[in-house]
Amino acid sequence: MMKKYFTTPIYYVNDIPHIGHAYCTLATDTLVRYWRKKLGKENVFFLTGTDENSQKTVDAAKLAGKPIPEYLEGMAKIWRTTFEKIGIEFDDFIRTTEERHLKKVHELFTKIHEGGDIYKGKYTGKYCHGCETFLKESELDEEGNCPDHKKPPVDLEEENYFFRLSKYEKPLLELYEKNPSFLEPESRRNEILNFIKSGLEDISISRETSEFGISLPIDENHKVYVWFDALINYLSGLPDGEKSEFWGEAVHIIGKDITRFHCVIWPAMLLAAGIKPYKQVFAHGFFTIDGQKMSKSLGNVVSPVELAEKYGNDALRVGLIGSFEFGHDGDFSLSHFDGFYNSKLAGGVGNLFNRVVVLIHKFLDGKKPEEGEREEDVLTKFNQALEKQELQRAINIFFEYVGSANQLLNETEVWKLVKEDLEASKKVFATLLQKLEILAEMAEVILPETAPRMRKMLGNAEKVGEPEILFERK
Ligand code: MSP
Repeated sequence: MMKKYFTTPIYYVNDIPHIGHAYCTLATDTLVRYWRKKLGKENVFFLTGTDENSQKTVDAAKLAGKPIPEYLEGMAKIWRTTFEKIGIEFDDFIRTTEERHLKKVHELFTKIHEGGDIYKGKYTGKYCHGCETFLKESELDEEGNCPDHKKPPVDLEEENYFFRLSKYEKPLLELYEKNPSFLEPESRRNEILNFIKSGLEDISISRETSEFGISLPIDENHKVYVWFDALINYLSGLPDGEKSEFWGEAVHIIGKDITRFHCVIWPAMLLAAGIKPYKQVFAHGFFTIDGQKMSKSLGNVVSPVELAEKYGNDALRVGLIGSFEFGHDGDFSLSHFDGFYNSKLAGGVGNLFNRVVVLIHKFLDGKKPEEGEREEDVLTKFNQALEKQELQRAINIFFEYVGSANQLLNETEVWKLVKEDLEASKKVFATLLQKLEILAEMAEVILPETAPRMRKMLGNAEKVGEPEILFERK
């Protein structure tokens, strides 16, 4: 049986999850649900987790006035329970402070070292703590700041261990050449290919000054560079790691901000360790909130939990994923979200299910008429969209189908027809019920908490169930 392995980035724990993190994790969870439905739960593995061995952790723990382990326990728990609360069903949650991770980091480091691709050297450069990376002069903005963090990088001179990334220029280009879908979407692939072609420099992969992290297996005084450490989570969080039958099928879902780490450094590390690289990286875009960049200073950071508490997990999921194309940048508008909720969920799909079931109770005593024709092509299109990771399109197909069912209901005025021509009205009801069946099936993927409630309303082979309100109007 085919296997699928999906991962999200592992998240920094210097802050609590915001809606950007929820977006990435919900999108991945939605793809995972599709594949679980198709292949069976046991054939899909979904990993998420937290990236803890960072200077950010040290600073945040200090700020919170807590010892690091206590701080980490609390934060990891917040991330894990937040994801659980908003309806994410991961198979495992990896923390980079766990023993299993440390072991894997040491194992990989040793393999790469033994292969001759790690050496000691001096490095002077400009380091951005926000990115946890050295930046080239040419990458800074006019004021000499990191373009992402709007802060000047600090001058660092360190004696470090280096990874021979430069050696992997050609092997990486060959890898990309052979695997057209190694990085999607196309725009990101081109960006990375240009970056590789412009020449790769060796990168420093240890820190002598780090207060916290994993020590090198070959030098107690150095800590493993946080990105070198973090990327390895994709192996340490998978039972049996690279020997697992899931590994060859790994799809890393990430944001576009971290493609260089994932699509240049990570495959080079794997090649250097003699491990077959993952199957694909898919880099989604970034979104603004009502047209503005989300930031603490602007005070527009949206909590996924608050939204989910008000509107429900499923609304959060489709509202976010449906707002813009997966793989592109977009905007999430809070005011549109409210409108979307009321028109598409409460007034759209919720109202449709309720009306049909109420009418069948009222006029047919709850009895289901003969089966109508099943419109498989809609389901096929929906499934194809998900296989191509076109999440927004899948959601659009669902809501267009809701629209077509509502149209049928209104155009036939079945509540009048039933009094004039019972047989004709039964045909309409049968068609409507088939449409609802298909909607309930699609809902298993995009509205997973609503789907069982829909099924309950659709009842058994003979009778429909009790009507309920799927989405309360706000
Ligand atoms: N710890 C690293 C990743 C290591 S993976 C081996 C990291 N963590 S992070 O906490 O900063 O989260 C990064 C991810 O959160 C991004 O790649 C992206 O998926 C998501 N997003 C954060 N803000 C976002 C938006 N405004 N919009 C969309 N996604 C956003 O980087």
